[in-house]
Amino acid sequence: MWYSTVYGREAMRGKSVKPHWTLKTKLGLPSVFLLCAFFFLAGLFASTFVVQDVYGGGRGRARLLESTNYENEYELLPNGETGDDSITTIPFQVLSWNPRALYFPNFATAEQCDSIISIAEPRLRPSTLALRKGETVENTKGIRTSSGVFISASEDKTGILDVIEEKIARVTMLPRMHGEAFNVLRYEVGQRYNSHYDAFNPAEYGPQKSQRVASFLLYLSDVQEGGETMFPFENGFNMDGSYDFKECTGLKVKPRKGDGLLFYSLLPNGTIDVTSIHGSCPVIKGKKWVATKWIRDQEQDD
Ligand SMILES: *[C@@H]1O[C@H](CO)[C@@H](O)[C@H](O)[C@H]1NC(C)=O
Repeated sequence: MWYSTVYGREAMRGKSVKPHWTLKTKLGLPSVFLLCAFFFLAGLFASTFVVQDVYGGGRGRARLLESTNYENEYELLPNGETGDDSITTIPFQVLSWNPRALYFPNFATAEQCDSIISIAEPRLRPSTLALRKGETVENTKGIRTSSGVFISASEDKTGILDVIEEKIARVTMLPRMHGEAFNVLRYEVGQRYNSHYDAFNPAEYGPQKSQRVASFLLYLSDVQEGGETMFPFENGFNMDGSYDFKECTGLKVKPRKGDGLLFYSLLPNGTIDVTSIHGSCPVIKGKKWVATKWIRDQEQDD
């Protein structure tokens, strides 16, 4: 299906660029054969680049997850009731073990990102903070200056958030039910989020019904300059007590449209990973859009 699309596009391009060519030249059988072979190979080659594009939309779960039946490479096992009948391959890079941070290039398509932005944009409100003891809306002004909105996958009629949520469940290997609704955020020039933890320390926030285990950020836009996600305590740096929470330093992840970033707030023994502190550097040029999903240790109701 995708192949014929690509082939058609290539063939059309050939026609429109050189309209007189086919009229003026008499082609012998060998040249026709060579020409066909050329377009076949060109189409095959081009398809490796554009195959991402046709994954947009909301249907065909396995395809959208970029799952492939590697029947010849792997022998599938019979799956359980809730399992998959296909192998999933999602490429990633380990950015750090302290904090445990992983990067997923091309996690979503550009079309999927644009669709999420268009749903979120009309509903944006100034982002809020979970307040610690002694904190008020007034005295925490400036810590988080983005705008945002919570959107659950079921609210997105295009089915795109549903597909993204399925994919996040696979990379975190944690069931979807543990995720909060997506928090779609927009940072404009100068907007930032000072370094903070996503997990709630009970000593500061009081007892919690559940704890945040991991955070998945899907960058919905490129940012021309600034807007990096930063981990100032990466591998123990800046932890001598002198760190200014506004300062943009440490391991920095540059937002790129469609890319994903996953990091864990908790260590394997369930305690908060101090190196998971992170922030958003101010946007210097452009706009930053990101969809965040926080994943908890208990199932969520929303
Ligand atoms: C959890 O693991 C960390 C790192 O290995 C360790 O420093 C900490 O003491 C552990 N905490 C508990 C309660 O086991």
